[in-house]
Amino acid sequence: MKSVILVGGVGTRMRPLTYETPKQMLPLVGVPMIECVFDALARHGITDAVLALGYLPDRFIEAYPSGVIAGVHVTYAVEPEPLDTAGAIRFAAKLANIDETFIVVNGDIITDLDISKLVKFHRDHRAEATIALHAVEDPSRFGVVPTTPDGRVIAFVEKPPRDEVPTNLINAGTYVFEPSVLERIAPTGRVSIERDTFPELAAAGTLYAMADDSYWLDAGTPQAFLQANVDFMLGHFRENAVAGTADGSWIHPSSTVDPSATIINSVVDRNCVVKANVVLENSVLLPGAVVEEDVEVRFSIIGPDAVIGALSRLDATCVVGANVRVEPGSRLAGDVRLGGV
Ligand code: GTP
Repeated sequence: MKSVILVGGVGTRMRPLTYETPKQMLPLVGVPMIECVFDALARHGITDAVLALGYLPDRFIEAYPSGVIAGVHVTYAVEPEPLDTAGAIRFAAKLANIDETFIVVNGDIITDLDISKLVKFHRDHRAEATIALHAVEDPSRFGVVPTTPDGRVIAFVEKPPRDEVPTNLINAGTYVFEPSVLERIAPTGRVSIERDTFPELAAAGTLYAMADDSYWLDAGTPQAFLQANVDFMLGHFRENAVAGTADGSWIHPSSTVDPSATIINSVVDRNCVVKANVVLENSVLLPGAVVEEDVEVRFSIIGPDAVIGALSRLDATCVVGANVRVEPGSRLAGDVRLGGV
């Protein structure tokens, strides 16, 4: 079955890391997020995918010149301008001549969803489109999807206020579409699947949704990105449990870690240097990052080739951009973003 994978967003919430690396090329325990997504797709029988590209498309094309990602054959669809989610799906599906039932996946969703089960549900209900749903504690950040008992979507409510959420089931970012959905999307300009197409389908009574309780994480925020790394190391996302992790951490063999350093639930990617008496907890060092002596880093992401000066203390949630130098003795906490374009 063919699929369209959306990876063209600018990744505002992951700035400054996304200024030079598209969100789905950021690594989860050393492996680009997009490969983790494709691993899961391959496990569930997806053989062909169209990558819907917009922002920094060359970073994907150069990384996978053979057009194969985790065993899945990939066609690249580069949008001439940002088309938003529905516009991107239409552009990519038309480019790949998709004319039968197909899958759509948000490229920053890490999930173990059984896609065959979703397709069966879609066919059993003779739906035009079917959304996978996931239960969350606070649905107000997501598209909330109330349904009838047999799964027909009553409404599609994007990011409702906390006290007005009709259900805790949210749009999990994996869909099954009939090609007729494409004809509902305007051929030019920005069209949002969440704000435009789903409400229209819900009103037509042809949109269904299936709740599912498999592993699911929207890795598009720094906090969720850190969680995804920890979950991978601890093997919560079953098939991707990382071999060679110890004490909930993963250290690439090319990196140097002083024996006096304490590393807990953290990722030290390739070519990093961690000096004496460093404490690293629930954090990710991206390739080439350097942490000088006596530094404590907790719940933070240190970007490629960034340097954290000696005696500094970084606490939840610092995101340090590529090549940034943090002054020795710095004290940083809160929603801190360091580094510009
Ligand atoms: P934020 O800016 O942090 O919200 O991230 P984002 O740009 O990725 O947006 P969001 O997470 O809402 O997007 C959901 C999915 O759609 C992601 O996989 C994006 O890469 C993708 N996406 C969003 N807008 C576009 C677009 O205009 N074109 C394409 N091809 N994909 C898009």
